[in-house]
Amino acid sequence: MKAYLCLLLTAAVCAALLCGCSVGELNNALGHAAQDSPIYDNRDDTVTDAFLPGARWLDEDGRPIQAHGGQVSRMPVDDAFAYIWVGEDKRSGHTGNCVSVYASDDLYHWRFGGDVLRVPPSREALDDDPYFAALYGACTPAEKDEIYAVLNPFAVIERPKMLYNEKNDNYVIWFHSDGATPQNDYLYDIGMAGVAVSDSPFGPFRLLGRSRLSRCPVDQLDCYPRSKGEARDLNLFLDEDGAAYVTYTSENNKTLYISRLNEDFTGLCKDPAEAVHGVDYIRLFPGAMREAPVLLRHEGRYYLMSSSTTGWASNQARVWWANEIFGTWHNQGNPCLGSEKNITFDTQSTSIFEAENGQWIYYGDRWNNYDLPDSRYVWLPVRFDDGKLTITWQSTWRWD
Ligand code: GAL
Repeated sequence: MKAYLCLLLTAAVCAALLCGCSVGELNNALGHAAQDSPIYDNRDDTVTDAFLPGARWLDEDGRPIQAHGGQVSRMPVDDAFAYIWVGEDKRSGHTGNCVSVYASDDLYHWRFGGDVLRVPPSREALDDDPYFAALYGACTPAEKDEIYAVLNPFAVIERPKMLYNEKNDNYVIWFHSDGATPQNDYLYDIGMAGVAVSDSPFGPFRLLGRSRLSRCPVDQLDCYPRSKGEARDLNLFLDEDGAAYVTYTSENNKTLYISRLNEDFTGLCKDPAEAVHGVDYIRLFPGAMREAPVLLRHEGRYYLMSSSTTGWASNQARVWWANEIFGTWHNQGNPCLGSEKNITFDTQSTSIFEAENGQWIYYGDRWNNYDLPDSRYVWLPVRFDDGKLTITWQSTWRWD
């Protein structure tokens, strides 16, 4: 079979060269063929009163929604409930992303609530700009240097997620904080989780800091022992009993973790040096190379969806399920059904949430590597059939 495919490909390349096409043109042609598939149907359309996965999605001011790698959830806002969409404002490109927030009552129409965790344009701005001075004015110069190390135009600020903390009546954002180091110009050499807080989902959020998270226990085989406690793609989950968790990819993207948060949701419940595996955190699927984790609970069962690790390119998703968060996780396999199921309908997971009527919704990013701000959102209905989480393609649909 392999030899046959190889022959076919060689024949296609030869034919293209004989016709005077370059191999690059052939690739483009193949790319266009892929774009003719149903998953691209909506590219030139605009979302209005129904979901149009992959279409342009404008906010109420007519500007493209900038909330990539984000999360949608229904949370208390000023004595009522609203849908809050938090994400990466990618207008700055790959680095220096502010964290944006949008609000909605119907999930189709979104009001821009502002860039709520902002990146200062320079170190001086932390002292001179009234917006940043109001947030960080009380910090020492060394603390300001640390804030600028996390929030600066060259920093990676990805996959922001927000929780409402009932105890403190405030809002907490966690995000993947990364960037190059003096030793390595690779943009993902830091591998930490950043945390910021605010009294309003519309900010301004104040950065508390960033840190490494749980570590591989000494009696288990660490897939990346030279760099302990890494946190990259991450997500938050609030359980029905009020406990909150962060799930993240660690060990150089080889192993997923889930760690319980403290009561303020601003850090782990236990210092990584003292945390007990199976009690305070769990290490999952060592070496499986999963990222973009999404954790949820439906009818008492926990589900953890993730992607493989191919950068901006889409790949096959997988779901695991468990009856207890720190219990045994079972592999359900690929949750997607139908055509393009093996590339998750050309998306990467970032959020799965429940609408008011009990309809669950998958939100994935269709990254556009060549024009990151024009990356699109794909929202699809989620079903739970016989305890299995499934996602199917719809060119257009309504949740209500
Ligand atoms: C993906 C990750 C994204 C972004 C991208 C950069 O694997 O999920 O959030 O970091 O890599 O290549």
